Amino acid sequence: MEIVESPFELRELCNRVRAAGKRVGFVPTMGALHRGHLALVHEAKRRADFVIVSVFVNPTQFGPTEDFSRYPRTFEADRRCCEEAGVAAIFAPSREAMYPSGEETRVTVGITDKPLCGVHRPGHFEGVATIVAKLFALVGPAVAVFGRKDYQQWRVLVRMTADLMLPVEVVGLATVRDADGLAISSRNRYLSESERVRALSLARGLSMAVVAFNGGERRAGALRRIVVAEVEPMADSIDYVAVAEPEGLQPFEEDALVGGRALVAIAVKLGVTRLIDNVVLGEDPAPI
Ligand code: PAJ
Repeated sequence: MEIVESPFELRELCNRVRAAGKRVGFVPTMGALHRGHLALVHEAKRRADFVIVSVFVNPTQFGPTEDFSRYPRTFEADRRCCEEAGVAAIFAPSREAMYPSGEETRVTVGITDKPLCGVHRPGHFEGVATIVAKLFALVGPAVAVFGRKDYQQWRVLVRMTADLMLPVEVVGLATVRDADGLAISSRNRYLSESERVRALSLARGLSMAVVAFNGGERRAGALRRIVVAEVEPMADSIDYVAVAEPEGLQPFEEDALVGGRALVAIAVKLGVTRLIDNVVLGEDPAPI
């Protein structure tokens, strides 16, 4: 497995791989790799011949009060993880390599990045879209795999790729969960034991919404309140609990009826940790 730090070496490597007739698969990450990331790697390997994982904690997607400086950095463990998973190369650039002095271009996605997390993390999706556009330009992947755990991120990147006519297939993979239903996240390691127990209310609330939906409940407000009732007593604060249209992500009015599919998305804080989770009603199984 190669470890590449220079953007230009990465581009040359990918050029050689493509010239040899191989399909490049790409999994962008911020490291602190876990089973969720590895599921993306396995999917990329199924769809491509040469899989590249990037490990880069992207400063432009963190707000001034967010956890950029204390985001977990575990490169040695990540390297071993990738090696065992059959990754062909890791791209681990420096901040200066991805944002050299004088750079000033940002990629902004219009409507999809506004609701849900867009309200609470201004500039976040612009940072994500910018770094992923740069990485796509360096790697030139045939396919890139993202997690639906970060559902809005996936939709923003699908939109960006279509709008910029980038020749990449953007795949969204189902959320990988711990045995008790908690969505796996690099940030779970910040949770104390009691916070982790309280965090299970997210998966529980979403599961109750799935059961209600499968039982015929279609009122957006009622579905939302089922989740709020479960999560509110357990979270330290709620950023949002939303029932939204699954492609454009616009939240339904409380008195609207949802159709055959609807996204239910949650963002809460437990102590200092911000957790998100979601299901698509009419599509995903209950998390618990
Ligand atoms: P990161 O949080 O490291 O996540 C990398 C990828 O792993 C994302 O596509 C994310 O959705 C996916 N992922 C995380 N937990 C998952 C889980 N439990 N099940 C399935 N997939 C999961 O997301 C980012 O990094 C960054 O924003 C990035 C796209 C790399 C841009 O900087």
